[in-house]
Amino acid sequence: MYIPALLNLLPFTLGFLHQDDPPSDTLRLGTLTPYKKAPIVEGIRGLPDDCSVDQIHRHGSREPLEYELPLIQGLTYKLGNASEAIANATLPDSLQFLKQGYVTNLQIGRLTAVGRKQLFDHGVDFLFRYPHLHAETFVAGNEARVIESSHWFGQGYLGMKVSDAEFITLPDGGNNWIRPFMECPAWGESWNPTTTPGAIWGKKYIPPITRRLNKLLPGVHLSDDDTHGALFACAYDPPQALLLGSNNGSKR
Ligand SMILES: *[C@@H]1O[C@H](CO)[C@@H](O)[C@H](O)[C@H]1NC(C)=O
Ligand SMILES: *[C@@H]1O[C@H](CO)[C@@H](O)[C@H](O)[C@H]1NC(C)=O
Ligand SMILES: *[C@@H]1O[C@H](CO)[C@@H](O)[C@H](O)[C@H]1NC(C)=O
Repeated sequence: MYIPALLNLLPFTLGFLHQDDPPSDTLRLGTLTPYKKAPIVEGIRGLPDDCSVDQIHRHGSREPLEYELPLIQGLTYKLGNASEAIANATLPDSLQFLKQGYVTNLQIGRLTAVGRKQLFDHGVDFLFRYPHLHAETFVAGNEARVIESSHWFGQGYLGMKVSDAEFITLPDGGNNWIRPFMECPAWGESWNPTTTPGAIWGKKYIPPITRRLNKLLPGVHLSDDDTHGALFACAYDPPQALLLGSNNGSKR
């Protein structure tokens, strides 16, 4: 038995695979909002007769992408260099935390502790849901977080017997069916962070936020990139405890 596993398609950041009700603090983070069950669209009854779905898994929660991390780091440098001005400033409650300084240990694209847990839990759930399947082979696309995800999935699914399982990584190129987009010339362009609809919209909505923050943070001189970094930091750098749902509010 063979599970075509762990595609690596779209940003999937703070995804909670099993939490119907992610912590409300994390629900307004745009595309980086944790996974939650979407409402069923009215009028849709199921798949058309001529469609079928193969089981597909993504990697678990990851750290920022290559173009996102420098924005977060740039913000931390700006704040670090302005620490004296921040210490002197009278800040609103919502920004008081900056007096303690903000540094980040994020790295590019790394699977997070939350991501490990998601895939482990997913392996356990998969076993309960499809007890008649006996998967022994796990296939991953050639991306470190995806490969690691397949191993955590295998641990949850097989426990100690995972040592008998086979893990395959499909190299990019040729007829790689698990990451076919790597062969698609339009893919790279679609990811150019300066020309996406998100970037165009960013030029509209970010500058007013920068102006507002700079009024509240005298002497720091945030740029629009720093503000953008702050928005990413909010999504990527919250306390792990919150993300793991160990706060009282979340149901598991
Ligand atoms: C100040 O900014 C520079 C880069 O502009 C950075 O290398 C340095 O780490 C910053 N200092 C602090 C204390 O964050
Ligand atoms: C912070 O306050 C101290 C003491 O009032 C002053 O000497 C210093 O210049 C101020 N620094 C900044 C960056 O505002
Ligand atoms: C649970 O919530 C209460 C009050 O809301 C708080 O005092 C307590 O520290 C929380 N416990 C944990 C483990 O988060």
